[in-house]
Amino acid sequence: MNIRMKKLGIACLAITFIGTANAEIKPLTRDNGAAVGDNQNSYTAGEHGSVLLQDVQLVQKLQRFARERIPERVVHARGTGVHGKFVASKDIRHLSKAKVFEKGTTTPVFVRFSTVIHSKGSPETLRDPRGFATKFYTNEGNWDLVGNNLPVFFIRDAIKFPDMVHSLKPSPVTNKQDPNRFFDFFSHVPESTHMLTWLYSDYGIPANLRQTDGWGVHAYKLINAKGDVSYVKFHWKTQQGIKNLTVKQAAEIQAKDFSHATNDMYENIAAGNYPRWDLYIKVKKESEFANLDYNPLDATKMWLDTKEVKIGTMTLNRMPTNFFQETEQAAFAPSNIVPGIEPSEDRLLQGRVFSYADTQMYRLGANHMQLPINRAKVAVNNWNQDGAGNQSAQNSDVNYQPSRKDNRTENQQARYSSQAQTGVSQQKKIAKENNFSQAGVLYRNFSNDEKSNLISNLASDLGQVKDNEIKHIILSFFYQADMDLGSKLTKAVNGNLAKVKSLSK
Ligand code: HEM
Repeated sequence: MNIRMKKLGIACLAITFIGTANAEIKPLTRDNGAAVGDNQNSYTAGEHGSVLLQDVQLVQKLQRFARERIPERVVHARGTGVHGKFVASKDIRHLSKAKVFEKGTTTPVFVRFSTVIHSKGSPETLRDPRGFATKFYTNEGNWDLVGNNLPVFFIRDAIKFPDMVHSLKPSPVTNKQDPNRFFDFFSHVPESTHMLTWLYSDYGIPANLRQTDGWGVHAYKLINAKGDVSYVKFHWKTQQGIKNLTVKQAAEIQAKDFSHATNDMYENIAAGNYPRWDLYIKVKKESEFANLDYNPLDATKMWLDTKEVKIGTMTLNRMPTNFFQETEQAAFAPSNIVPGIEPSEDRLLQGRVFSYADTQMYRLGANHMQLPINRAKVAVNNWNQDGAGNQSAQNSDVNYQPSRKDNRTENQQARYSSQAQTGVSQQKKIAKENNFSQAGVLYRNFSNDEKSNLISNLASDLGQVKDNEIKHIILSFFYQADMDLGSKLTKAVNGNLAKVKSLSK
């Protein structure tokens, strides 16, 4: 066998062994599959000469290395993904025609837990909401329930989101997070009081990813086979029991391990101690809305007046084998819906329905839904085509619809729901703001320890605010939520209670 044949032989071996995880010998190849002769020494012009540009292995290795990073998520950059399954346990066909809810149906899921504000390598002990995003690979296409571990949100209109995130992210001047900046923003946003009460309570630092609930936050719509619409809120209830950390506990953990929550998840899954969550829903009809003293489509509100019903259970049981390919490239989007589940008119959710797929086209490319972690388990049949990284099996001359040659039929059952519309187009706040009452309810439900932790946690950030007006407006929000909370917090930050009262309506 001449040298050329030998080389060819090695190249063939490389092809044979690709994908054989336990193969003893795996020849090293370049991206074109050809064997690498020397991966330790660059190709030089003799002993003292320069490196030759024709060393394609060197050039390719450096090029690929330089392109390893993609933009991190603009929010929720730090995350941990886990595979599992969801089993539906209650017949809710009267509410939704979605097959994922059909009693007894098992659906594979991928969940990504995350922190929100800081970057990909930041500690997991920070006070921050935790993202709780679930991709259900249903047999009618993918449905993503992209929620958080807290039941409400800071704002109720998507137009405020970029400003809110800018204020919470590190300063563009110092690259440090600064309470002076975010409390300046929130002093204009009284509806944030409820979420701030959750966030500065012990719930703001969950002990790990298993011992926390998840919430859909928004109202969604469920549609049954007759086209009847119900409004619904989703709640994942942990079977592990809720466990939060005090500031002191978090500081102690952070000093030793800034990946404690990810480590906890890997260890528990490896030990076969699979975490489980029950999925609950609360249901309302549109006819109930007028009688409520709050807007049920306002993401700063819970439906405290409605009881919840269990509809299934999720078990997480497998860690990704490649963090980048699965967790980092996962793309959850509120626009990933299936027949029987739709967004409600919640103004925050409506913005999210656009924003996620948009950022993912930038972060991962136009064809990110073809990546294995995002790909539907059912056939994808449409004429969206081409673009960078396209892997679809488009092999027809017909790339349009309708056609008499290769038609793709529409499904009448998958039409969006109908809703009567009245009124004039407008740019106006919602009518029933009711900004403070649920924050007060939450505070009064806390134990004495939880109340005093909330006040000291809030005081430690609000106490850093130099602008007296900002500080007192924020104090007046908490005073309007609950007089005891407002008074104690005012004392804790050396505020002026008379001024707080005068700012309170
Ligand atoms: C209008 C308001 C909001 C906007 C514009 C927005 C926008 C975004 C964007 C751009 C991302 C990055 C997505 C990616 O790169 O893949 C993201 C991630 C995320 N957001 Fe929001 N967000 C909003 C509100 C919310 C709310 C209310 C929740 C919770 C109910 C939430 C939960 C999440 C989660 C869990 C992730 C991480 C998903 C993952 O693990 O990949 N967001 N958001």
